[in-house]
Amino acid sequence: MIKTSSVLTVPGPNPKTLFGRITNLLNFGSDSIGYTRQLFETYGPIVSLRYGGGTNVYSSLPNCPGTVFAYGPEFVRQVATQHEVYYKHPLSGRLYRRQNDSARTEPLKHFVVGLFGVNSDRHRQHRQLMMPAFHKQQIESYRDDIVTITQSALDQLQVGNSYDIAEVMRLLTMRVATKTLFGEDIGESGNSTGQLLQDVLAIMGSPMMSLMAFDIPGLPYHRFLNQISQLDDKMREMIAHKRAAGCEDRDVLSMLIQARDEEHRVGLSEDELLGHAGVIFAAGHETSSNALTWTLFLLSQHPQVAADLLDELDSVLHGEAPTVAQLPQLPLLERTIKESMRVLSPVPWNARVTSQPTELGGYTLPQGTEVFVNIYQTHQMPELYPEPEVFKPQRWETINPTSYEYNPFSAGPRVCIGAGFAMMEIKLVLAMLLQRYRLQFIPQVKIDRRGTIVMAPKSGMPMQVCQQDYQFTQGVGGVQGNVREMVRLPA
Ligand code: HEM
Repeated sequence: MIKTSSVLTVPGPNPKTLFGRITNLLNFGSDSIGYTRQLFETYGPIVSLRYGGGTNVYSSLPNCPGTVFAYGPEFVRQVATQHEVYYKHPLSGRLYRRQNDSARTEPLKHFVVGLFGVNSDRHRQHRQLMMPAFHKQQIESYRDDIVTITQSALDQLQVGNSYDIAEVMRLLTMRVATKTLFGEDIGESGNSTGQLLQDVLAIMGSPMMSLMAFDIPGLPYHRFLNQISQLDDKMREMIAHKRAAGCEDRDVLSMLIQARDEEHRVGLSEDELLGHAGVIFAAGHETSSNALTWTLFLLSQHPQVAADLLDELDSVLHGEAPTVAQLPQLPLLERTIKESMRVLSPVPWNARVTSQPTELGGYTLPQGTEVFVNIYQTHQMPELYPEPEVFKPQRWETINPTSYEYNPFSAGPRVCIGAGFAMMEIKLVLAMLLQRYRLQFIPQVKIDRRGTIVMAPKSGMPMQVCQQDYQFTQGVGGVQGNVREMVRLPA
């Protein structure tokens, strides 16, 4: 029986003043990876943001007892598999408090809630309803759309020009997401639902939003509520249109509209559909675009890996886009992506809130404690990955870590539902891009990390687009910024 104290006893810094506590929160918000690395070095693999608790980063529940960070396969296993103890909350949970419920905040009940907002049996039931849209065969049917959109995005790049590759990848994966999710490519249709959804997600990430969630004209929260109401109308219209057309399209939303529970033949309600579509869109493109950006960056600094990879692509594909059947013939491509997501994990954290008092690492966590499991730090453990800071795709020829040791897509019942989709998308885009262009890093540019939910380069990833000329040593070295703390790079 676990003792039910509401005080958090996990070790951690103990600032006495309010200013000190706010500084800790800001340190975490501005660089969650760097700040928690220092905390782990000082206090060990389980640590609190403040000893004694009283902090709240993400939970939307009242009276959060505090915030705990942990890393390592055993903590990953416990948190990922104890589905009934470690609950999930919607992305940016603090926005969902809705103390002042009104017609204006009504859409917050489902906006980007989807799978992130359901737990226990409801999660199992919804996940089962969604699975057909993510089956291998269904995912493979998106190959042609991904290839067409990638081709069109690559055509827009001019050899000799420099671009923010993070932005290029973001737009590309957003086009893929809108096409596969809603059946519309925003590259073709201009101001679409996908674009509006993207704009709303961008405001949602603004720190001002959770600090000043007041519905007063001029504040971002007011603009946010205006936009989600517009989005709600647009998406309801889209669902009605798809229903009227008999849902014959093969996009994810059409499949979700048709999905029925096997036992009771019950489908998803309209609000549930809106929540799921929002989550799939939010979870499905920033993640893949950052995985692509970081991989292209790592390849630009590892000329031998880039040369070997091009050999593999040339010998199997001869300049063409891969077919689904050719993907398994590209083992180095797969190892390169896996290694990239190990060293620069696009989603560095899994966040949960305890649904009941529980024990972790010998400490009692009161009900409602926020627990952040650090995927990135787990991937940096030398006992699992010798020379963890070295980007070495060939290590995957001999290692076979468990899903708790390597988990860029998380593990357990909440493992990423889009992992197969993401891997196929990333492989297709990389294979097409690398055969056509060489992306050259611009020396002395500073590459810092940002973000807690998704790790992205803080000021983008400027790179020059060159014809693929096999001159892989060009632009190697001269990288500045805190990315150098995460991966060993040439001087
Ligand atoms: C490289 C790309 C991606 C990475 C690294 C990634 C990573 C993750 C991680 C770590 C989680 C677990 C989060 C948690 O439990 O706290 C997750 C969940 C999820 N992901 Fe992904 N993801 C990627 C791409 C995608 C794509 C393409 C889609 C959809 C098309 C998607 C949809 C989802 C959904 C719906 C969940 C929630 C699953 C649940 O709670 O049952 N993800 N993803």
